[in-house]
Amino acid sequence: MILVTGATGTIGTAVLRVLTQRGVPARALTRRPPPASTPGVEWVRGDLTDPESLRPALRGVTRLLLFPVPGAPEALLAAGGGDRHVVLLSSGSVRDDTAIPDDTAIPDGTAGPDRAAAAGGAIAARHARIEQAVVRAGMSWSFVRPRGLAANALWWVPQVRAGDVVRVPYPQAGAAPVHERDVAEVAALALCTTLLDGARPVVTGPRTLTQRRQVELLGEALGRALRTEALPLPQARERLLRGMPPDLADALLAYEAATVMDPVRPTDTVPRLLGRPALPFGRWVRDHLDAFRGRPQSTGPGTPQR
Ligand SMILES: NC(=O)c1ccc[n+]([C@@H]2O[C@H](COP(=O)([O-])OP(=O)(O)OC[C@H]3O[C@@H](n4cnc5c(N)ncnc54)[C@H](OP(=O)(O)O)[C@@H]3O)[C@@H](O)[C@H]2O)c1
Repeated sequence: MILVTGATGTIGTAVLRVLTQRGVPARALTRRPPPASTPGVEWVRGDLTDPESLRPALRGVTRLLLFPVPGAPEALLAAGGGDRHVVLLSSGSVRDDTAIPDDTAIPDGTAGPDRAAAAGGAIAARHARIEQAVVRAGMSWSFVRPRGLAANALWWVPQVRAGDVVRVPYPQAGAAPVHERDVAEVAALALCTTLLDGARPVVTGPRTLTQRRQVELLGEALGRALRTEALPLPQARERLLRGMPPDLADALLAYEAATVMDPVRPTDTVPRLLGRPALPFGRWVRDHLDAFRGRPQSTGPGTPQR
């Protein structure tokens, strides 16, 4: 039995789909009332910070997908899960020499090149802390490190529904957007085999694309002439603050600033591990086109639709 945490999220949902398609018995954890029924999946209530709630979820489980919630490795250990193999959903921003400052807060809302490195490091440090907690707990592990989910484009849904202009702080920021299906298949390999035990695969899409180009590709698929415009930083920050704490908002802005000068490069992880090319951004767009269609939303711009 494999336990999937983060099971209602973008990646967890995709992992459950891969496991059920392959006939692998899966249990799925959520803090919410479980969905009515998903064939091949047993839903359980639980919180990754509450060891008591994890005990029943762990029964009969040998390997699990761990969503990166601070304190989760410790809770897992306290729940008696220390002998399970943990496949941690981490981040490609983690370097093996990532410094972990005591305080990841970023001083203010402006992003210059120096702050970019420091603040982008806050995202890496958050994930590195959880990786290190897993190692410290003495658990067997695989760290799956996606670098820039294609699903981040869902942040643009309200703007795309409202008009043809997508305003972003850094239209030239370069990502190699990765389809959640590819992350899920790498995670499934780590869950169902021992091939990735002790490995830290960095999972990306097949090509570097600026946000401007991603918006154009989205427009082509929708049959519309979508374009980007630069959004002044204070407005971008204010928008992010509607959905996240200031330190994370600043870290994300600084990370994007850094990827203008130093765009994310594709890795060979998907072809090497899965024996096929990584799914292109255009495929992700086709798989999620319905999310971008429809009437203007009442939710404000920048509200993530996931
Ligand atoms: N966006 C990127 O480009 C990127 C890049 C690299 C890594 N990542 C990592 O990927 C994560 C996002 O993954 P995603 O998009 O699949 O997530 P998501 O769609 O935001 O879903 C969040 C999931 O986490 C679960 N969760 C949160 N806190 C929990 C807790 N205390 N106990 C149990 N479950 C909890 C939620 O479950 P319920 O609400 O059902 O309880 C939900 O299933 C980020 O947090 C980041 O760490 C993202």
